[in-house]
Amino acid sequence: MANSLLQSFPKDLRHLLTELRHDLHRHPELSLQEVRTVERLQSELAKLDLDSLQRVAGTGLVARIPGRNREAKPVAIRGDMDALPILEETGAAFASVNDGVMHACGHDMHAAWTVGAAHLLATDRPLGDVVVLLQPAEETAEGAPAMIHAGAIDGVAAIFGAHIDMRFEVGTVVAQSGNVAASADEFEIVLAGRGSHAARPHEGNDPVVAAATLITSLQTIVSRRLAPGIPAVVTVGTVEAGTATNVIPENARLTGTVRAADQDTRERLHTELRRIATGVANTFSLTAHTNIKVGTPPLVNEPAVVGLAQTAVRSLLGDRALAALPVPNLGGEDFAFYLEKIPGCFIRIGGRGEDQEAAPAHSAKFLPDDGAIAVGAAVLAELARTASVEFNR
Ligand code: NI
Repeated sequence: MANSLLQSFPKDLRHLLTELRHDLHRHPELSLQEVRTVERLQSELAKLDLDSLQRVAGTGLVARIPGRNREAKPVAIRGDMDALPILEETGAAFASVNDGVMHACGHDMHAAWTVGAAHLLATDRPLGDVVVLLQPAEETAEGAPAMIHAGAIDGVAAIFGAHIDMRFEVGTVVAQSGNVAASADEFEIVLAGRGSHAARPHEGNDPVVAAATLITSLQTIVSRRLAPGIPAVVTVGTVEAGTATNVIPENARLTGTVRAADQDTRERLHTELRRIATGVANTFSLTAHTNIKVGTPPLVNEPAVVGLAQTAVRSLLGDRALAALPVPNLGGEDFAFYLEKIPGCFIRIGGRGEDQEAAPAHSAKFLPDDGAIAVGAAVLAELARTASVEFNR
């Protein structure tokens, strides 16, 4: 099914996008440092017949492709471009030359297919204008808020984005309603006690023992407080306390992440986390200081809008191209910030090549197949076309 699409996809454009992807992959840059990346993307987009092309939010880019009817409400497509602090082990010919930095989440693919979609739309114009967003800093969830703040989606009727996914073959697409990414909030809990000699624990208030109780108690939020079947995560990622074997320290500090598939569950996690931290601290005569740093909201696709994506996928790739997530996704995705403002949907593009073994995203061996670039470009362009008609009815 991918074959027929790939055969009809312009050959020159395919070569250009593959080369672009390899170049971005070879020179990955961390969040908010995408200086070389954005320059390359800007020079690619500048070749097109655009209404405007602007740098925004530091290393972000906004292009506007004119539609046939300039009065129509514009729709937007969005790609991201940042890499991760990982030492690449793919052995690819175009592997990272920036030691310790790697495109391990496929944002090189996303940037390439967004440029590809822009090419397709600029050569065969959609009904209304299409705004193309290339945003920085998705991994740190700073990029989308910065683009919104810069006015990138002002006046835009709907926005669409996609992520590569190696669990699915090239030519398959996940376009489903409901939860497709989770809220991802960070927490820090400091248990403040009283230090003493390790041989005389009764003279102090030991935060280490309390921390041990707190870590296991926090696990009861998901297992005892949420209904079975509601997806959520509470993970304690770091534990720090103490300096010597014979000293009871003053403080213990825990940090971690809480994730939920919907807003109600997200709020419940925050409330329970604070309640349990305070409760455990009271039990041990300590004080708990809990801070929650709010990250991405849950990403939920509305059935009506995701239906447009399903239509686009069916028309390009056939009925069998649509796949479903095997389990809810508790990863965060900052595209959710756009959907807090305007309608839209987020889809996943299969990235596993023939006979290729899937490596997990964010691993040193993650290397999706080049074939998915054309699929992503064609699907996003078709989706923008369909949505342009639908949102101007
Ligand atoms: Ni990603």
